[in-house]
Amino acid sequence: MAGLAFDIRPSASPTPEAERTAKLKDPGFGRVFTDHMSIVRYNQAKGWHDARVEARANFPLDPALAVLHYAQEIFEGLKAYKRADGGVNLFRPDANARRFHNSADRMAMAPLPEAVFIEAVEQLVRIDRAWIPGGEGSLYLRPFMIASEVFLGVKPSAEYIFAVIASPVGSYFKGGPAPVSIWVSENYTRAAIGGTGAVKCGGNYAASLRAQAEAIEHGCDQVVFLDALERKYVEELGGMNVFFVFEDGSLSTPPLGTILPGITRDSIIALARDAGTIVREEPYSIDQWRADAKSGKLREAFACGTAAVISPIGKVCSASGDVLINGGEAGPVAMGLRKQLVDIQYGRAPDPHNWIRKVF
Ligand code: PLP
Ligand code: COI
Repeated sequence: MAGLAFDIRPSASPTPEAERTAKLKDPGFGRVFTDHMSIVRYNQAKGWHDARVEARANFPLDPALAVLHYAQEIFEGLKAYKRADGGVNLFRPDANARRFHNSADRMAMAPLPEAVFIEAVEQLVRIDRAWIPGGEGSLYLRPFMIASEVFLGVKPSAEYIFAVIASPVGSYFKGGPAPVSIWVSENYTRAAIGGTGAVKCGGNYAASLRAQAEAIEHGCDQVVFLDALERKYVEELGGMNVFFVFEDGSLSTPPLGTILPGITRDSIIALARDAGTIVREEPYSIDQWRADAKSGKLREAFACGTAAVISPIGKVCSASGDVLINGGEAGPVAMGLRKQLVDIQYGRAPDPHNWIRKVF
């Protein structure tokens, strides 16, 4: 484990059971937090050191902390699921650890050994096990790294803090897996070739907020971005990848490059191909999307991600008008893949790709 042992320091004042139970009833997304956090520090002299699990607490923030000025920050998102036998599953944490490593590289941050990432996540799940909701809820885990050198020069920070916090969650969208509506961003793009679109840095999300606000102003749930070069090809949503289902049963999804290489996206491609479905990773234009939705060639579209799982897209809205997908209803392919994926995550179905890591 890269020679790093975590010092486990349980909180002296954990949330009383009655309060925790009340909070777990309807946690929503990302508003309720557990009692602990994992934290590991980096500096050039010691490398990664001082690994702890301790009571969740504020960070002391020097006003010159590098992350506050130049946004050298990356994060991940994964979930712990409670199995029917009382055990706990993580879904593909190795893939999150690898993507985190790639994000650190792109953002000129200290690479965190993948084993330390996984250990930090597992230790937090162990100590905060009582916070994992039952039913279709899960414990959303948020590993992140910030540049923590106190310095105003523009250069890679010499110090970093890696931490993991946890939040019990229900559905990301208020309506659960009900179809969502999306707004096509014509004024803003998310990522250009050579930029940071393929990594999970906070700045990508800061830059997406204006476009997401525009989506909400137009009564939509999420924004969908087009490519920055031609403003023509569908890339992804603010926090999800996207798939299309055609009348011949095939699927397509935008190719990797400027989009986030979603772990849910990768899992769906694998599950669909296992079932003999043709899956193309190819550019798909917004005009073609509209035309195929109208002609009926496009049967379904859905968004996918750790937070959103699989959410059918019922309506695509833009300044030039709205288009319904599958009559605005959830389609059988999206819902079937969702069930297949969720059943693996909760340990209700076999795991042919060895994606599950049992914490207990
Ligand atoms: N695209 C963006 C921009 C995201 O923020 C996310 C969520 O993490 C995804 C796609 C889906 O990625 P994953 O399936 O790994 O959660
Ligand atoms: C996730 O799905 O893990 C994300 O980070 C997306 C965000 C919109 C919550």
